[in-house]
Amino acid sequence: MSKRFYLTTAIDYVNGEPHLGHAYEKVITDIIARTHRSLGQEVFYLTGLDEHGQKVQSAAKAEGKAPQVYCDEFAAIWETFAGRLNLTHADFVRTSSERHKAFVRAVLQKLYDNGHFYQAEYRGFYSARQETFLTEKDRREDGTFDPIYGDVTELVEHNYYFKLGEHQQWLIDHIEANPDFVQPETRRNEVLGFLKNNTLEDLCITRPKERLEWGIPLPFDEEYVTYVWFDALSNYASIPAALGDNAAAGPIGLDSRPDAPALWPADIHVIGKDILKFHAVYWPIMLKAMELPLPGQVLVHGWWQKDGQKMSKTTGNVVDPVAVIDEWGVDAFRYYVVRELDIGPDGNWTDESFQARYSAELANGLGNLVNRSLSMLNRYRGGTLEATSDELAADAEKWIAEARGNYESHQIQAALVSVWGLVDRANQYVEQTAPFKLAKQEDQADRLNEVLYNLAECCRILAVLIWPVIPETAEKIFEQVGIDGSPADFSLAKWGGLAKGHTCNKPTPLFPRKDLEKSKRLAKREAC
Ligand code: MSP
Repeated sequence: MSKRFYLTTAIDYVNGEPHLGHAYEKVITDIIARTHRSLGQEVFYLTGLDEHGQKVQSAAKAEGKAPQVYCDEFAAIWETFAGRLNLTHADFVRTSSERHKAFVRAVLQKLYDNGHFYQAEYRGFYSARQETFLTEKDRREDGTFDPIYGDVTELVEHNYYFKLGEHQQWLIDHIEANPDFVQPETRRNEVLGFLKNNTLEDLCITRPKERLEWGIPLPFDEEYVTYVWFDALSNYASIPAALGDNAAAGPIGLDSRPDAPALWPADIHVIGKDILKFHAVYWPIMLKAMELPLPGQVLVHGWWQKDGQKMSKTTGNVVDPVAVIDEWGVDAFRYYVVRELDIGPDGNWTDESFQARYSAELANGLGNLVNRSLSMLNRYRGGTLEATSDELAADAEKWIAEARGNYESHQIQAALVSVWGLVDRANQYVEQTAPFKLAKQEDQADRLNEVLYNLAECCRILAVLIWPVIPETAEKIFEQVGIDGSPADFSLAKWGGLAKGHTCNKPTPLFPRKDLEKSKRLAKREAC
């Protein structure tokens, strides 16, 4: 079976409600997945949950629940959330599942057998909140630790360590030889700077069971559970292996299946900037030790703020993606986050800018174009195209080529700018040709037929171009233009698809205009 385009997101911590940052990452990944599908590739998109660790154990205990029950309850919320975002993931990984744990145990045994681990005493400081050990280097000048670490305790314990030091040079060489391995460039430089200016310390990969039970026990020493990051990173290969992909299962000694999808190595891991070191340093080293090929790319996005401030539940400064989707629709949400923020820099959500883009670009731009084009076609010609015409063909082909290039290089924001090049051109064409005037002049009937064709054909092409980003809208446009098939195929973005004699349906608004003042007043009244 030929290899699928395999892409993943970070797996979210289960103990909390999904927020804008989680949603953004999953939407970007979904758009890249849909882009590749639209371009004719078979795609496998994996997302899911990171469920083990101290925080989950403590939170479950506080609620008087078994950790598994606690995770199952949250997992239902997260899976529903993935549905609300209209994600096209092929699988949903949970690190507490048996299929994942079996892989992690096999990996641990293999690395242990091959001499990658050793046991040593650890004396130092531990942050339960970050689930990480701290050293003297992490102390601030006044001797305290940053509040992000929460309560820091001093401890002495024996643990297993993974020898990272010996991997430093090949990893530097790999990142230097493969400019696409970490993207964008700023993040690549950050990793190279880190690797060249620091000596990698060996990684503690266990926690004693007496301190943490909610984890995967070491197969060779039941007194310990696996460090959450070792466990979590493995998800990217555990699911391919569990599905029987030989490239992931074989080197670990697990069974493969001839009919399994060929997935490993991953083509892209999409992650946020805070977890770069885990993905661009620890994970490649883990893979090398497992004797698995490295992924093609770690694609790193920035972080969202709200109104210029860090999002925080305690201050109430958050964006609830579900509330936005309930009020404005999933496509408006998906469109805004990728049109507003390129993959890389940090972004800032403001309700004003969300509403401004909704009105100008979605309602007045795309929505109005489709609505008036199809309304006029219905009013003047009963919906039927009575001629064909190539008047806008060259313009359309130019924007199609530009959008395609941007989509192919995963420049989603730039792709949308290209697509809106065609939206604006078509709207301008309505003003220039004034079909409502042509309709009043009997000798302009042929001209009106041409104009109406150009507009309907632009609508059809636009549906194909926007499908990866706003698929519901794309499908609605296809339906309104009267096409039976799906817009999920980029090769349909080619001038001339509509035939003479084709009949379009009557339009309904794609992005209803909102009386913003009224909805603000209502929201206030509900809050009272
Ligand atoms: N569980 C780890 C990841 C393990 S991957 C093997 C984790 N979970 S998380 O829930 O804290 O974060 C999940 C993803 O959401 C990360 O990629 C993180 O960068 C991203 N974001 C969390 N807050 C964010 C913003 N405010 N803005 C954008 N993305 C953010 O880390």
